[in-house]
Amino acid sequence: MTSQTNYSEPQYAKSQDKAKAPFYHPNIERRLVPETQELLEKYSHVPRDQQSEHIHKIRDQAWDIRAYPCIGLGSWLTPQLCRLPVYDDILKRVKDGATLMDVGTFVGHDLRRLVYDGAPSENMFGIDIVNLFDVGYNLFRDREHFRGHFIEADILSTTSPELAPLRGHVDIVVVSQVLHQWDWEGQLKAVQALTTFTKPGSWIVGNQIGNPEAQAVSLMSRSTALWRHNPDSFAKMFEVVGDSTGTRWETQAWLRTFEEMGWDANDGAWMEPNVRVIEFVAKRVS
Ligand SMILES: C[S@@+](CC[C@H](N)C(=O)[O-])C[C@H]1O[C@@H](n2cnc3c(N)ncnc32)[C@H](O)[C@@H]1O
Repeated sequence: MTSQTNYSEPQYAKSQDKAKAPFYHPNIERRLVPETQELLEKYSHVPRDQQSEHIHKIRDQAWDIRAYPCIGLGSWLTPQLCRLPVYDDILKRVKDGATLMDVGTFVGHDLRRLVYDGAPSENMFGIDIVNLFDVGYNLFRDREHFRGHFIEADILSTTSPELAPLRGHVDIVVVSQVLHQWDWEGQLKAVQALTTFTKPGSWIVGNQIGNPEAQAVSLMSRSTALWRHNPDSFAKMFEVVGDSTGTRWETQAWLRTFEEMGWDANDGAWMEPNVRVIEFVAKRVS
């Protein structure tokens, strides 16, 4: 099945033949790292000897909806949010009642991790332009008890009725592996959109593909370049957004290699040289 949603995502996300995609790896079993095995076993009750079959089946359900590199590579099986240095603070805030919005939630894997770590799911919102929410329920087998809310919406939309109640009310916005799909202007627009959900004291946290040299790159015959941030350009982006939205942000950002993320070094072989991941925490001061 191919969804009919209009694309704001890159062209490569359109349905495509697995065999021809450089980022579809037939066997993603090595992505089943101990944290994920534990989550699947203890949260989802998928016995270890069935987990490999389970994740391959789920990966293909997701691939039939969108041909994202992260789906083909299975990188969503390597936890990211819980490895952020501020994860314990995020967890504490959500346990204390904070509202958390995961933008580009995909199958809602970061939300499930928070729940497994003791956070209540009631104040969690997973937003995605593509509805992979049933795939997520199939992956985690928690349709009956996960109380978080999934919303199919474009985060750039100013008219979505489902997003309206969240504006100005979100304490923590998680946005991982999403912003890098846009050029500099596109990322400014997207971060401006994210700020509309925040209030003083809110955080915007996550990661995206970055590079020690901030630059525009063109990949896979895209006509529009993607913007690669380094920590300086990332801070600059929040300064510009702050000026245009009347908000003020303190940002911290740092680069990690793919190996440091728990991925394979050559997962980025189809991208530009020196590619890295940039992780970030932006705190709204006013
Ligand atoms: C590469 S995946 C990252 C998934 C997850 N956040 C992670 O880090 O593993 C990007 C996700 O963002 C979603 N997305 C892309 N553009 C979006 C938009 N404009 N609004 C909401 N979600 C979007 C995609 O559908 C996809 O599920």
